[in-house]
Amino acid sequence: MSEVEVYPVPGEWAKRARVDAAGYEKMYGLSLADPGSFWLEQAKRLDWIKRPEIAGDWSFQEDDFHIQWFADGKLNVAANCIDRHLKTRGDQTAIIWEPDDPAEDPRRFTYKQLHAEVCRFANVLKANGARKGDRVTIYMPMIPEAAFAVLACARIGAIHSVVFGGFSPDALAGRIEDCDSTMVVTADEGRRGGKPVALKANVDEAAKRAPSLRTVIVVKATGADVAMTEGRDIWYHEAAKSVPADCPPEPMGAEDPLFILYTSGSTGKPKGVLHTSGGYLLWAGLTHELCFDYRPGDIWWCAADIGWVTGHSYILYGPLANGATTLMFEGVPTWPTPSRIWEVVDRHQVHTVFTAPTALRALMKEGDEWVAKTSRGSLKLLGTVGEPINPEAWRWYHEVVGEGRCPIIDTWWQTETGGAMIAPMPGATALKPGSATRPMPGVEPQLVDPGGRVLDGATEGNLVIARSWPGQMRTVWGDHARFFQTYFSAYPGKYFTGDGCRRDEDGYYWITGRVDDVINVSGHRMGTAEVESALVLHPQVAEAAVVGMPHDVKGQGIYAYVTLNAGEESSDDLRTELRNWVRKEIGPIATPDALQFAPGLPKTRSGKIMRRILRKIAEGDVSSLGDTSTLADPTVVDDLVANRVS
Ligand code: WT7
Repeated sequence: MSEVEVYPVPGEWAKRARVDAAGYEKMYGLSLADPGSFWLEQAKRLDWIKRPEIAGDWSFQEDDFHIQWFADGKLNVAANCIDRHLKTRGDQTAIIWEPDDPAEDPRRFTYKQLHAEVCRFANVLKANGARKGDRVTIYMPMIPEAAFAVLACARIGAIHSVVFGGFSPDALAGRIEDCDSTMVVTADEGRRGGKPVALKANVDEAAKRAPSLRTVIVVKATGADVAMTEGRDIWYHEAAKSVPADCPPEPMGAEDPLFILYTSGSTGKPKGVLHTSGGYLLWAGLTHELCFDYRPGDIWWCAADIGWVTGHSYILYGPLANGATTLMFEGVPTWPTPSRIWEVVDRHQVHTVFTAPTALRALMKEGDEWVAKTSRGSLKLLGTVGEPINPEAWRWYHEVVGEGRCPIIDTWWQTETGGAMIAPMPGATALKPGSATRPMPGVEPQLVDPGGRVLDGATEGNLVIARSWPGQMRTVWGDHARFFQTYFSAYPGKYFTGDGCRRDEDGYYWITGRVDDVINVSGHRMGTAEVESALVLHPQVAEAAVVGMPHDVKGQGIYAYVTLNAGEESSDDLRTELRNWVRKEIGPIATPDALQFAPGLPKTRSGKIMRRILRKIAEGDVSSLGDTSTLADPTVVDDLVANRVS
């Protein structure tokens, strides 16, 4: 791979950073050689009510399957993120909030103020019946109250389940019901790019399909006129008046659940990924510090939404555990203009920006002048996450945005992993555009062939992780068998990531993308089965098959093949209707980019759809469809090729 450019560690980073190249080797080696002492030492990063004496206790084998970290320890996650900083940095800004509309004023909360806000929110939750272990669904815009609500749950030991504000009422109802959540925290409306998002109205819609829901706490965000249901809906600002200001943190076991976050898999409905308290917080804080060499005083900005794991780990938990100043952005990168991100950087003197390749590609298309007109002088590091970054976007980020002086931190991880798993450290790791580089301490990646044989050296295969790490998910909510089945059955004794990967001769990892039926649209995971289920709910649709296709901004787009019921006519109107249907059923991110009417789908004689062929056609690669002779009706392929939508 000699044609790949290598960006050595800049001299000043090698000197300044906590971990240099030798330090990384030493730390990584120790983490694998003596995990017990390594992790007990790392556990000192947290403030424990009872300090743990055991680190990892786990087995990925079916007959003894269990995963625990620091199981004898006791702590409170919110106290770790807030209370323990009060003495040393109570007056330091904890959260900077940048509104959707740049004409409005930002808001700032010191650690002291954050403490007061979270205590109050926690008392409102308690006054309305939330207790340790209860599930509280949070369906919020990117406003400070979203952070207060999340941390309030952690404070009282309630399990939060944040549902991204872009999801439909149906998707929300499914997530409320799956975990028997009785309480939703929402806002009257959200705003994004100058447009309102009808959150409360969506909750009302969802409530019709979610009988477990009993209480809705509504934050007044835009002041829009919304319907309130007597006996169920409560205005937060009214409830907050009558609760005490202080709320003692609930002592929690390290393995007590902290949150559920739903994510798409290759089959069935979204899974409730469960993270617990001690190991998760340790992982979020440690990786935030190592990957970004975080120092108190640096202004940190993770430009994700708290509806995704990136927002959980790197807007809230990791940075706050480290006493950081974290920026929360309500808006979108392209509104009012494509300069917005860089203007926010200048306005708040941001040190590190952490965003997704899809945002970079969208901005890159708008031209360099939108970047050039801003200063960006405060920027020291640039991060990326969510999907493989194409080298062209990497170089643009490095050269145009960072003017060559900011290392690019490409972090590979998953909702399931809790935090970064393969990623550089700025003072330790030479960079190669498009590679997430090398594993974090305690992470033992392996590449395996389909038969499970471990492949050595420079090679390509399926990416598995051969041992547990503290931030690992602990179960699928309500379905422990599915947890085992999904992640530990393909390669016994190992965690299967679902990703394909190449390792080069320097031991660098290059993620090649999902090898299952999950597609990655704009850095968000979408199960093809979910989109198919939504399509077949339409009365005119008999059958649907969905695959990914290359998309120059989104990374992957959604390509749907639809067979109509006998006697139904295809038309452009129906195509539009079906795309809107999916949008309404799941949410805008699931809208098919291309939809092809297909009188028949390529099936084997046993009735299995041959997705390989559908993927090739969607990619426009019709010259190499491979062997189609095993199909029940090989002629359907000719029709599919002839009517391909581009
Ligand atoms: C999938 C996980 C990680 C938080 C956001 C997405 C892909 C993620 C990278 C990266 C290449 C990446 C993988 C992974 N992915 N980061 N830096 N390089 N691919 O979390 O929704 O759970 O999706 O995103 O395919 O399996 P997620």
